[in-house]
Amino acid sequence: MSSAVTTSSFVAKQNIRRLTVPLFRARKRAEPIVMLTAYTARMAEILDVHCDALLVGDSLAQAIYGLPSTVPVTLEMMIAHGQAVMRGSKKSLVVIDMPFGSYEASPEQAFLSASRILKETGADAVKLEGGTVMAPTVAFLTARGIPVMGHIGLTPQAVNVLGGYAVRGKDDAERARILADAKAIEKAGAFSIVIEGVIESLAIEITQSIDCPTIGIGGSNQCDGQVLVVDDMLGMFERTAKFVKKFEQLSEIVDTAVSSYAIAVKSRTFPGPDNTYK
Ligand code: KIV
Repeated sequence: MSSAVTTSSFVAKQNIRRLTVPLFRARKRAEPIVMLTAYTARMAEILDVHCDALLVGDSLAQAIYGLPSTVPVTLEMMIAHGQAVMRGSKKSLVVIDMPFGSYEASPEQAFLSASRILKETGADAVKLEGGTVMAPTVAFLTARGIPVMGHIGLTPQAVNVLGGYAVRGKDDAERARILADAKAIEKAGAFSIVIEGVIESLAIEITQSIDCPTIGIGGSNQCDGQVLVVDDMLGMFERTAKFVKKFEQLSEIVDTAVSSYAIAVKSRTFPGPDNTYK
């Protein structure tokens, strides 16, 4: 068998059921899109069954690394976790966040970073934060074969400018700016836009005003899909934003299990007959 045939059948097998960017985009006003963040292979494998898309979010800063914000995240961190998520998933569209400092300087800088992310992970798309000011970069990447998901409203990488993580779009001027951001990013070619932490009526207005799917996180259930940080919705953290619903209390389950383990070790009841080799 020629190496070309071997390579193409390998690629076909790998990608056989992964949702594509055009199919994702076509989900506008159809069945809501289910998206969660994922950072590790095993978690990606579990989420893949239920999700349409997995986001390797730079929220790994807090979720995995215990960092105070997403600002210190590097391209290398995103690539390593992107590779893990690609290894764990088969069918979900995988989007990888471009970390702070890897794309803002120029469209050319963004292309070098984004192409590295796609080449080294095999993921489907990148996500970047910012509105009107990032539109030329979104257009530059899209025209060169890199699908871009936008992210507007509350943009955590701008925490040092915003001064915190407060809800956005409260006054008319800010509302108009965020709506203009959505339109600019869509016009530039974004295939989807995350709307984070905005007044619900604004999330609805944006969703109705643009033709690509909106993904809400602290937006509205009228967005075309929803995303949450997986560790938040599983209840790994005590303090979360108002927009998080904890679908489980995983930290309590882990705490109970680890407490039982510690008791078993100290009382020498573990390992027992089932866990030792005779
Ligand atoms: O990094 C992340 O997890 C995100 C989501 C909050 C949308 O960008």
